Amino acid sequence: MTGAAGKTGRAVVRALVARGERVRALVFRAEQAVALNPLGPSDVVVADMSNAAALAAAMRGTATVYFICPNMHPDEHELGRLAVEAASSAGVDRFVYHSVMLPRVREMPHHWQKHLVEEELVRSGLDHVILQPCAYMQNVQAGIRRIVDDGQYTVPYSTRTRLSVVDLDDVAEAAAIVLSSPGHTAKTYELCGPQALSQEDVACALTAELGRPVRATTVVRAEWASLARTAGLGDYAIESLLRMFDYYEREGFCGDPTELEALLGRPATPFSEVVRKIFRDRGLAAAEHRRSSHA
Ligand SMILES: NC(=O)c1ccc[n+]([C@@H]2O[C@H](COP(=O)([O-])OP(=O)(O)OC[C@H]3O[C@@H](n4cnc5c(N)ncnc54)[C@H](OP(=O)(O)O)[C@@H]3O)[C@@H](O)[C@H]2O)c1
Repeated sequence: MTGAAGKTGRAVVRALVARGERVRALVFRAEQAVALNPLGPSDVVVADMSNAAALAAAMRGTATVYFICPNMHPDEHELGRLAVEAASSAGVDRFVYHSVMLPRVREMPHHWQKHLVEEELVRSGLDHVILQPCAYMQNVQAGIRRIVDDGQYTVPYSTRTRLSVVDLDDVAEAAAIVLSSPGHTAKTYELCGPQALSQEDVACALTAELGRPVRATTVVRAEWASLARTAGLGDYAIESLLRMFDYYEREGFCGDPTELEALLGRPATPFSEVVRKIFRDRGLAAAEHRRSSHA
């Protein structure tokens, strides 16, 4: 598995280990190997996935490759092409690609790059599966400080915009199921959450779980871009995300949970449950807050 030390990778390593699978995790830096070890991968390799020879060496002896590209990487098409080539030369049985919902939308450059990787994979003749998750519910954590401290949930698009956000742990479990069971050859699965939530719905769920008011507000995109630049985000990521926000606001980003639920054999996790867990992990559950404000 590439990108194993990232947000997605860690969740999938956990899900695979929970199913008793052996995982060779590819990480970028030696310190990530140390941090990942407690999750229980059988093997951790430190390598740069833009190095074709290192990639092929890491893949040799594995049955299946799970390719997770670093988030918002300007060269995702090239990294994907290298990974497909390396998998072919290493003789792996199967290649599973962590793509995104609606990769064919050309106006979102990071989606379009995933579409091009999907094409490389289909053309390669490798036995393959493609997973297309919607945006993760856990992304709400990026703004958690303002949510908790100021009761403000800010998004760089209209608060009426609807997204079928999905629980990252559901995505990870679905990935682990696909990676460890037969019968998915040439399938593409869209992985969406159970509801198409507006940002006002998101704020309502945050209010209910936090036990105090949270309001959804729109931040001007130029202001968002300036903050993102100060935080160290690169030009490609900023430009791609701005185009994604335009798309979200105009079209929404909604899908159907059927394929995810069929893979999981259970209903997809609702947003309120994920938020409850996020607050509980931070010692901020609504019931506890109510108790402390009565004390
Ligand atoms: N977030 C969402 O809502 C969402 C939804 C659908 C799909 N996705 C897709 O999910 C994928 C993973 O996203 P994520 O947020 O989990 O990624 P992430 O946290 O950025 O993790 C990527 C990992 O890859 C490592 N990496 C970077 N460059 C590398 C290189 N040259 N060679 C080897 N490893 C390298 C990073 O290490 P460093 O930390 O050292 O850079 C990091 O550990 C992305 O392709 C994204 O588009 C995300």
